[in-house]
Amino acid sequence: MPDKLEKSQQGVGIVGAGLVGCLAALAFAAKGYSVTLFELRPDPRETAGNRNLRSINLAVSDRGIRALKYVDEEMATRVLENVIPMHGRMIHDLSGNQESQIYGLFGESINSIDRSFLNDSLLDEIRHSENIKLLFNNKLVKIEDLDKVPKMTFQETKGEIKSYEFDYVVGADGSHSQFRYQLQRSMRMNFSQEYIDMQYLELSIPPKKSLSEDDDDRFSYSPNHLHIWPRHKFMLIALANKDGSFTSTFFSPWEVIESFKNDDEFVDFFRENFIDAVDLVGEEGLRYAFNSQPRGSLMQVNAYPYHHPNGRALIIGDAAHSMVPFYGQGMNCGFEDVRVLMELIDSKGDISEAFKVYSDVRKKDLQTICKLAMDNYHEMSSKVTSKWYLLRKRIDYALGKYGNGKYFQWIPMYTMISFRGDIPYSKAVEIEERQAKILGRLEMGTIGIFTVVGIAKFVQWWKR
Ligand SMILES: Cc1cc2nc3c(=O)[nH]c(=O)nc-3n(C[C@H](O)[C@H](O)[C@H](O)COP(=O)(O)OP(=O)(O)OC[C@H]3O[C@@H](n4cnc5c(N)ncnc54)[C@H](O)[C@@H]3O)c2cc1C
Ligand SMILES: *[C@@H]1O[C@H](CO)[C@@H](O)[C@H](O)[C@H]1NC(C)=O
Ligand SMILES: *[C@@H]1O[C@H](CO)[C@@H](O)[C@H](O)[C@H]1NC(C)=O
Repeated sequence: MPDKLEKSQQGVGIVGAGLVGCLAALAFAAKGYSVTLFELRPDPRETAGNRNLRSINLAVSDRGIRALKYVDEEMATRVLENVIPMHGRMIHDLSGNQESQIYGLFGESINSIDRSFLNDSLLDEIRHSENIKLLFNNKLVKIEDLDKVPKMTFQETKGEIKSYEFDYVVGADGSHSQFRYQLQRSMRMNFSQEYIDMQYLELSIPPKKSLSEDDDDRFSYSPNHLHIWPRHKFMLIALANKDGSFTSTFFSPWEVIESFKNDDEFVDFFRENFIDAVDLVGEEGLRYAFNSQPRGSLMQVNAYPYHHPNGRALIIGDAAHSMVPFYGQGMNCGFEDVRVLMELIDSKGDISEAFKVYSDVRKKDLQTICKLAMDNYHEMSSKVTSKWYLLRKRIDYALGKYGNGKYFQWIPMYTMISFRGDIPYSKAVEIEERQAKILGRLEMGTIGIFTVVGIAKFVQWWKR
């Protein structure tokens, strides 16, 4: 049982100093609440020495940026200082040829950012905030008294157990959330967890050697594209890092990776399927990844509602909705959670009321993006190579270019999700469904015209 009880005055306790928990802490602090942020892991500054030096990056897009700016415009500028814009996909075919497919209509881009740079900068911002107390090495083990004043109990790495009371508690402790589990014990929360048959393995493409630091030539591929090697059942992707390296991720069903008896077979497989990537990753790198890199599994978590009925506890980020990574929206969406929540607090003037309406306000959008993320896997892994898809995409984009609201409104789906954070996910799907119907009719119309023209030509020829 707790041997100490520390009471915080009028405060918010947040569990998990991942990307979303950090932004939430900054957001509450900016509103003047006194925040305590608990993190299971040690302070990365203290473990910097034994951190592996490879960068792992992710794509930050409009929704994430909007949320960062909402919390603090200047902070957003600092945190986003080191991004690499990606204007489109670069599709690599079996012989190593590359073809660029631009994402945006007007030069918009998603952005590659180093994960540890992002969380280190958010942690730095937190250290400079007077309203936030940051406690590492604290593992949430229990939440009690949710019907009164929530009490959270943590186990410190040293083994000591401490409890804290807060007016409000927020769980941002990721997809395997202990916070969520504790809520589930005292309320009726629906919950589902689904592993998809897909693993991921991270590989690294080092910078080109012997070139100066800020020379663009240190990149082996265009840094301003998200590189994809779509191969139907499996695929490889790569995003650039500032230092000229690329972080590459290999996605495949488990049976594919488990069918290789040794690293030789893995290297052969890469030669067969990703010929141009083999030399860049290097045989050494491939063998290292196969033998030593952890293989990640991918899952989708859905929970509902996100708040406890007393209006004092809420889950956000991956703790509430873990999605597969194929739309690059997991963190962006988690950041958007924070913005939506803060706007509710503004409009309700009260955290408790905001928590109570949050679930209802957010449900449709969160369920939508989880589903879109799942669907986008098929688009990335195979559709991007189909002629029909490309034609459709071209028409879609051509309409988008001119459908800017002057004569008619037309916005491609990818644009809405990645560049138009002002359009909620669920609204984007509604708009897309309407557009798909029109596009379908256009196609039918076109086929119809070709048929009529064809018959007319045939009749002409027949008459002659
Ligand atoms: C391969 C891959 C690629 C991805 N690419 C993208 C991308 O391009 N763009 C994008 O937007 N998203 C991407 N994502 C998703 C993104 O990584 C997540 O959505 C995001 O990290 C979620 O942040 P979070 O803060 O909610 O959770 P997490 O990042 O999981 O952070 C949770 C934190 O809580 C801590 N914690 C856990 N348990 C406890 C406990 N009991 N007590 C105290 N602390 C605890 C953890 O140590 C951790 O620091 C990708 C995901 C994967 C797997
Ligand atoms: C920050 O990111 C790095 C790299 O992914 C990770 O090793 C570290 O544990 C993260 N720190 C926190 C507090 O999330
Ligand atoms: C939980 O799921 C059940 C079954 O699908 C549904 O009937 C119920 O309304 C859900 N509860 C909430 C709070 O959404």
